[in-house]
Amino acid sequence: MDARIALATPLSQRRPDDFARDMIAGLSKTPKEISCKYFYDAEGSRLFEAICDLPEYYPTRTETALLKTHAEEIAALIGPEAEIVEFGAGALAKVRLLLDALDRPRGYTPIDISGDYLMEVTRQLAADYPALALNPLAADFTLKLAIPAMPGARRRAGFFPGSTIGNFRPDGAAALLRQMRASLNGGGLLIGVDLVKDPARLHAAYNDPAGITAAFNRHLLLRANRELGANFDPQAFAHYAPYNVALHRVEMYLVSLKRQAVTLAGRRFEFAAGEPVHTEDSHKYTPDGFREMAARAGFAPRAMWRDADGLFSLHWLESA
Ligand code: AVI
Repeated sequence: MDARIALATPLSQRRPDDFARDMIAGLSKTPKEISCKYFYDAEGSRLFEAICDLPEYYPTRTETALLKTHAEEIAALIGPEAEIVEFGAGALAKVRLLLDALDRPRGYTPIDISGDYLMEVTRQLAADYPALALNPLAADFTLKLAIPAMPGARRRAGFFPGSTIGNFRPDGAAALLRQMRASLNGGGLLIGVDLVKDPARLHAAYNDPAGITAAFNRHLLLRANRELGANFDPQAFAHYAPYNVALHRVEMYLVSLKRQAVTLAGRRFEFAAGEPVHTEDSHKYTPDGFREMAARAGFAPRAMWRDADGLFSLHWLESA
């Protein structure tokens, strides 16, 4: 056991009944919805990693290539002896590219809602970076967080890859950026943003023939069965993920394939045949559209890198 790794959960976030409360609230709405943050328990995080390896899901591969190609330039912008705070850290794969390029990085605070998974991947990272101070936080990064400073670090930089910002509606995304800016104490933010493109390409990325995205979507129901004693039949719900051209976003739904009733936490929910449950939005931006939003959140956009096909972008934002 590495003495550097003590998983912390902020006091303000120790409420085990959030999932039940949010599921009941979401399924009581018209149209019904489930928050996409509940995808990411240990199994959901693994399914998401499998999505990232799909040939159709270009964001991960493209962003990783951008990080590799521009690592030195990015490291120079961040500066020496920095501490990195990663929001929604996942598998901790991309941050390695950053840590390898940085000049004597001092510390790393990965924040992820899936505590078990975070602990597992932080242990693997610790073995490869013996000099790095680690402070894994099991937390919902969308809530306000006081992140303790790393002793000896000269500056703090945020890292928010994967275009997770796209999973928030534009107003919520701007508010989240504002909040991140506050927790970065004047530090900059390196953020990945998926770009507006050919709808066919987007459609393929969220409707893979191997059915991994469908399994990821239905995992919400399996999780509710396991954790909340619900009795969803996941096969009685179809995965449906169209691209909404007007709103520049892929929308993900679970569509009830028949009239059915489900019990969850002692409550009964009825589903009509064809009724959708909205499970995720994934917004796509133009480079200017994203820079304008970042500026509204108090960041000064300083640099942007994009692949030759214009699929994905990485932005370095400084605190204005
Ligand atoms: C985590 N997030 C950025 C992914 C996305 O592309 O919106 C989640 C995802 N949903 C379906 N496929 C991937």
